Amino acid sequence: MQVLRKVAMVMVAFLAFTHVAVAENKDPIIIYDTQFHPTLAKNGMVVSQEYYASEAGLEILRAGGNAVDAAVATGFALAVTHPQAGNLGGGGFMMVYLKSEDRVIALDYREMAPARAHKDMFLDEAGNVDNNRSRFSLKASGVPGTVMGLTTALATYGSMSLKDVMAPAIRLAGEGFPMTWSLYDSLGRYEKRLKADPVSGANYFKADGSRYEPGETFKQPDLAHTLSLIADKGSAGFYEGPVADKLVAAMTAGGGIIDHEDLKNYKAVERQPITGTYRGYKVATMPPPSSGGVHVVEMLNVLEGWDLKSLGHNSAAYIHRLTETMKYAYADRSKYLGDPDFYPVPVKALTSKDYAAAIRAKINLESATPSTEIGPAPDLDRESHDTTHFSVADNQGNMVASTYTLNFTYGNGKSVEGAGFLLNNEMDDFSAKPGVPNAFGLLGGEANAIEPGKRPLSSMTPTLLFKNGEPYMATGSPGGSTIITVVLQAVLNVMEFDMNVQAAITVPRIHHQWFPDRLFMEPGHSVDTRRILGKMGHNVKTDPREAFDSVLGSAQSVVRGENGLLMGAADPRRPGSHAAGY
Ligand code: DON
Repeated sequence: MQVLRKVAMVMVAFLAFTHVAVAENKDPIIIYDTQFHPTLAKNGMVVSQEYYASEAGLEILRAGGNAVDAAVATGFALAVTHPQAGNLGGGGFMMVYLKSEDRVIALDYREMAPARAHKDMFLDEAGNVDNNRSRFSLKASGVPGTVMGLTTALATYGSMSLKDVMAPAIRLAGEGFPMTWSLYDSLGRYEKRLKADPVSGANYFKADGSRYEPGETFKQPDLAHTLSLIADKGSAGFYEGPVADKLVAAMTAGGGIIDHEDLKNYKAVERQPITGTYRGYKVATMPPPSSGGVHVVEMLNVLEGWDLKSLGHNSAAYIHRLTETMKYAYADRSKYLGDPDFYPVPVKALTSKDYAAAIRAKINLESATPSTEIGPAPDLDRESHDTTHFSVADNQGNMVASTYTLNFTYGNGKSVEGAGFLLNNEMDDFSAKPGVPNAFGLLGGEANAIEPGKRPLSSMTPTLLFKNGEPYMATGSPGGSTIITVVLQAVLNVMEFDMNVQAAITVPRIHHQWFPDRLFMEPGHSVDTRRILGKMGHNVKTDPREAFDSVLGSAQSVVRGENGLLMGAADPRRPGSHAAGY
């Protein structure tokens, strides 16, 4: 009897063990985490789109700087080595977790509309939107915020001098760096846009008009000079004095409207972060004028009501729920989001769990609801785009996530003569006319109409995650309208599917933005899954040429493991990304 009982217990134990093993083997997490490995380090980690810029941040960490010092160094270095999106002439957002104060900071350094901007400035005589003016003229530029943002972040939360953190960027511009394959390739593709402006042509190409070959030293003396002025004088080195004079002279000569007053009045603004919860995690992300934070939290709240994990990562049932949720969020974006200094954005309502439950109740779990049953359809412009995100963690527990941009790749393509930097075309992110989509196919109205001093609505979503109260992940992405859904999936892959950071940002993503009514699925999703989704009524697109960009984002991210180990993940989607740790 005794023996029989023992045998039975062993058998039960064996069956239980095999059952668990089988269940775990079905779990896609296991496959991903053995497939993708982050870069490991214990003292500090910088992840950005470009090798020399990540290394610039690492140099500052090694010299004893904190995450903010390193982020500022990386931000200035990207302006030199990744001019597609790295910039002095653009703007962005930065999320900081400051360990010493256990505080999250959301710094808004988005561009501002100049004082002479007005609601109808991009309409022609017939009242139609003139896309050329809103994207490629000097009127397309908002007052740049990057220099104020980076210098403010350093002065308030950094520990080193501006001169020290800017030294790598000044060196990269003045002494030059070996032309990278990714910049070489990009300059080739945007040669026409850059050469349309003689100053940009001279800055990025040789005197005979040819490209610097990969490996050849590429110097930017005017940019080095501008950077040195900023290092000496702080933000006044950019918003006042010779750089400001040159910028205003370029505006006056070329029909732009930014003047000295606009530059002097520019302010970086600390705002109340958007926070949310998802299972055991806390999410802290960027508030308006970013739409990203509000909608990431809105979508997480909706999705939290389903057991997504049991559906399986990237299964048709999972993607269906994700897609339907995205449609509701982007519909809300078109109506409710804008600069909070000018328009009362209903943040609390949009990010409440009750509102999410109401959306969830409307979602049909069997078939797609056509977007036309939610709102009107625009045409989509297929311009290509660039923005860039960098994430930093140090060994003190500080974390930084910052996304900044010129809007399009190389902005409006126009450089300030003698100052070495490109100007943004961020004014196109405003809604030039209600119901007419911007370059990302995004709709907007009153909330995002052009007004002097107002900041155009953005999708940039630098985000921090907290696990058990401790800072856990810093992430964000470029990708225009797709940024919000890229960040959503990066954090869901961590919080819902327990993926390591490299897996979380590498596995295939999807995107839907309500209008146009199409579900873009990156390569890597199974044909079977796409077919099932098609049968459920989704308008599935898989050809990158039909996408908003050739890939969905580029989410440079860091996770701080519970044991303190730093894990950096460079997104493989765009060339050149690099995780640098020590
Ligand atoms: O702020 C925004 O939402 C856009 N100006 C971002 C543009 C962008 O991400 C282009 N990138 N790939």
